[in-house]
Amino acid sequence: MVRKVRVRAPATVSNLNCGFDVLGMAINEPFDTVELELTDTGRIEIADIRGCDTLSRDPEENVVGPVLHAMATAMDFTAGFRVIIEKGIHPGSGIGSSAASSAAAAFAANLLFDNAFSLSELVGFAMEGERLASGSPHADNVAPSLFGGITLVRNYEPLDIVQLHLPPELSVVVIHPDTEVKTSVARGLLDRHLPLETAVRQWGNVGGLVAGLYSEDYELISRSLEDFVAEPRRAGLIHGFSGMKKSALASGALGAGISGSGPSVFALCRGESSARAVLESMSRVMHSERIGFKAYLSPVSSRGAGIC
Ligand code: HSE
Repeated sequence: MVRKVRVRAPATVSNLNCGFDVLGMAINEPFDTVELELTDTGRIEIADIRGCDTLSRDPEENVVGPVLHAMATAMDFTAGFRVIIEKGIHPGSGIGSSAASSAAAAFAANLLFDNAFSLSELVGFAMEGERLASGSPHADNVAPSLFGGITLVRNYEPLDIVQLHLPPELSVVVIHPDTEVKTSVARGLLDRHLPLETAVRQWGNVGGLVAGLYSEDYELISRSLEDFVAEPRRAGLIHGFSGMKKSALASGALGAGISGSGPSVFALCRGESSARAVLESMSRVMHSERIGFKAYLSPVSSRGAGIC
């Protein structure tokens, strides 16, 4: 029996503008790594968290705790785990930091349990980490972090995850400003009820985006990357957002918007050279606003969580 594994899980851009809580995609970097070892202690011990000094090592306060607890309960497993987390993704960045640690922990535990669970079942366990992090167990980051590529949460109860077709030319730019937005705060800004007209426009775009991905119709993808639900409420949380979005679109991005609940801003582009031009123009906005940031350019990653 394998007693120790090391797993990495990628950062993710969720919502993709029109798909609040249902659409997400994996990017190549950054990523989190979780090392998991079976012990005989009967408890979950987080021995170290590297790359971040603000996260708790108390398993009741760290996202890996509820994930491992739920999986151990489902398996009637009473031994223990020793965990080492390496954070490549900054917490509160909007690119699925809590989701990547949760996904890596779920994938690693499943290896130690001899692959007892399907990837979709792992999404359900990893959502327990999201519940702890933001108070709401959404799956639009953990699903692509586990599956890779672009995923759709067709339904939450029961969970139904669909991995969508990935057109080969999609590149993603992510600008992560040096600020933090708490997902719970960003979710608190949203309307609980939507006018029917708004819902119609939003689900028209979800359908359009999915159709555009399958037909590799980049114009249709571009037209569908609109958000009438979250962006109008959240844009004000992100200094420089409208300038970055305008400059991304003017430089040829297919679309741009808030990554997850922010503060990261993403732009989807056709091809790497277009993405480079978009990255430069978005960076210029951040420099002119004197806001510190990190920038990532990546193809949409077809790889989800895996052994490293
Ligand atoms: N869909 C979630 C939200 C993602 O926008 O609140 C948060 O990571």
